[in-house]
Amino acid sequence: MHEASRILQTIWTERDTTPATTIHPPLYRGSTVLFNNYEEFCQAGRNEYPGISYGTDRLPTQRQFEEALRELEGGALCRVFPSGIHAVQTALSAFVGQGDHLLLCDNAYGPSQRFCRKILPRFGVESTLLPPDVGADILDHLRPNTRVILLESPGSLTFELQDIQAITAIARERGIVTMLDASWATPLYLKPLALGVDLSIHSVSKYIGGYSDILAGAVTVSARHAQRFADYYKDLEIYTPAEICSLALRGLHSLATRLRRHEESAITIARWLQGQPGVGEVLHPAFPEHPQHWLWRRDFSGSSGLFAFTLTREYSDVQLATAINALQLFAIGYSWGGSKSLITASRVRRNLTCRYRGKTLIRLNIGLEEPEDLLADLADGFGMLISNG
Ligand SMILES: Cc1ncc(COP(=O)(O)O)c(C=O)c1O
Repeated sequence: MHEASRILQTIWTERDTTPATTIHPPLYRGSTVLFNNYEEFCQAGRNEYPGISYGTDRLPTQRQFEEALRELEGGALCRVFPSGIHAVQTALSAFVGQGDHLLLCDNAYGPSQRFCRKILPRFGVESTLLPPDVGADILDHLRPNTRVILLESPGSLTFELQDIQAITAIARERGIVTMLDASWATPLYLKPLALGVDLSIHSVSKYIGGYSDILAGAVTVSARHAQRFADYYKDLEIYTPAEICSLALRGLHSLATRLRRHEESAITIARWLQGQPGVGEVLHPAFPEHPQHWLWRRDFSGSSGLFAFTLTREYSDVQLATAINALQLFAIGYSWGGSKSLITASRVRRNLTCRYRGKTLIRLNIGLEEPEDLLADLADGFGMLISNG
């Protein structure tokens, strides 16, 4: 045998004979998965093989993360995706078809709405928007062919909450599938399935990943819909790379600790902002002033580090740019939930009526820095906008 081939063959034959026990599970990465014998191979051909038969058949690293999240969410099945938006799109398309109608909240993540508006009509699926604070009044929006309701509570820009329990009770009676994007609350602070939701969706890129260095998504499904979703996922041959699943699994270890810090710092900073004369409204579900605070108290067990505020007057783009560019610790960027504090500012555009329409919303992702340093940064850089009423 050629020398290099011989060495590689030796490594291969001895691959499991000298295992090391690490705290974090080893990474499984591969396309081909070997069968022990020809009989197993034939079983796989007949779809009867109980083991993993291919790289897209969810290798152990992926399965470990899915299993951990499934348990946290209290679901029957969990599947992971290469991004949060991929998870949303797959969840929706698994349960709608030609002639169906779908309802989604007007505060849902922009690309989720875009998928419903631009892609689903091509497959004969019509969607209409719900008020972002919808509850039992969802009855006014149902049609005989409504098949799916997509909620996002709170919305990640304007932070309205939906009455999840009222909606799921109504949907269940009519056989309508409910889905909820719970990325803000994480699986620790909201248990959508316990509130009657059928599919709980997370952008794992946010708090679960925790460091803004991965893109991933996850869907956890109730027993009633688990088989259909498992089949759909398999038919599409979706999988998520092992490195991503491993980082997501690692993120779960520190999620509770990080989240406590995000929560405390965000509340400190939001309270301070409330006391500034130039700040209009602080949009934070854990604050009694929030219009659906009672829903947060009823359904959630904590709050995370993302909130927004308005200003008492509108400023020009140049004035906003001057203030935002002056910040030292807050970086400008979209994907929240990580250790670095972030800021975005935009004028709210909505299809339905919205109390913030046309107003500038400043959104803060409060990271893991010292809250006093973040306050000082806001007071310095942002002072000219928030200290004058
Ligand atoms: C509420 C919400 N859901 C889903 C997504 C999509 O997640 P990803 O960036 O992992 O595709 C985002 C991204 O910002 C989001 O804010």
